[in-house]
Amino acid sequence: MPNKLITLAAARLRAGGVVAFPTETVYGLGADARNEDAVRRVFDLKERPADHPLIVHLAEASQVDSWASEIPQTARRLMARFWPGPLTLVLPARDDVPRVVTGGQDSVALRTPNHPMAQALLREFGGGGLAAPSANRFGRVSPTETWHVRSVFGIQVDQILDGGPCRFGLESTIVSLLEERPRVLRPGALPLSALRAELGMDGIEYDPSSGSATPSTPRVPGALAAHYAPATPLEIHAIEALPARATTLLDQGLRIAVLRRNRNLRGLGLPPSLPQYLLPARVENYARSLYARLRELDRFAFDCVLIEAPPDDETWWAVNDRLARAAHGQPRRGRA
Ligand code: TXA
Ligand code: MG
Repeated sequence: MPNKLITLAAARLRAGGVVAFPTETVYGLGADARNEDAVRRVFDLKERPADHPLIVHLAEASQVDSWASEIPQTARRLMARFWPGPLTLVLPARDDVPRVVTGGQDSVALRTPNHPMAQALLREFGGGGLAAPSANRFGRVSPTETWHVRSVFGIQVDQILDGGPCRFGLESTIVSLLEERPRVLRPGALPLSALRAELGMDGIEYDPSSGSATPSTPRVPGALAAHYAPATPLEIHAIEALPARATTLLDQGLRIAVLRRNRNLRGLGLPPSLPQYLLPARVENYARSLYARLRELDRFAFDCVLIEAPPDDETWWAVNDRLARAAHGQPRRGRA
């Protein structure tokens, strides 16, 4: 039995309303994907350019046929293995999928979220799809807790469902199945190793540099070089390079802080007066806390936050991707 808030939210969505809801990755800003006015309202609220497509969220894989015109065997395999879960699949769109959802493209992004509240909402909504981008303004940090959504959208949205902090804290992994070989468009909460385990080492294409798409071809907003950004300027540096950089900035009279992994490091040599903020050392925990931490740091209005570069390996793919975009426009990842 869905609770009253979910029944209410589903009724509002059927009536063309906009409802923020939790998923296992981040909070989404949902609207009936078949209702063009409702979807346009999501774009307006987010201040999102109309050519940046939204993900359609479904209760279960059997609904995919209502949205995709072709479903290759590989797609079926990935759905069977990873849905519900943090994997979004890009497939050819049926003609009746509103092009306002797909940003004018003939492909559609689909996923079934693995969060009890999202699942209950989708079921109560009744067989349709919810177009739901992350519930933040365009280009900013995604929300991983209800208050993040409330502090940005307040009463502008019809309802905000509170599901507590999100389990993964980073967005879903997006895989395109439009070409022969499946291709990662956005690294995310589903690890590359999981995709490789299912499809084989060569069965999936991932090019870490492909994300720096030029703003003139903004097919994947997350792929714009600057995205997922807090208001505070960020710099990413190898841990050994932090003390020298901190000293330089302090000498310029700037108010700065350091954000680093919580490890027992001796003799780091950071100036003692420098505020230090910590993130968990393990990747899953780091990912879960990252966005909330960046939001929190924004409230102190530092001139700059120096971030310790996480390990440069594939288990950190999504974290490194988001940090690079969050810091874009600032000096690049420094070398020791
Ligand atoms: O974890 C997530 O995916 C979250 C939760 C709420 O599900 N949603 C999310 O939505 O991150 P959004 O709109 O912030 O990012 C969706 C990404 C965008 O980068 C968008 O361009 C891409 O999906 N996308 C959507 N449709 C696409 C398509 N047809 N082709 C290529 N990329 C597409
Ligand atoms: Mg987003």
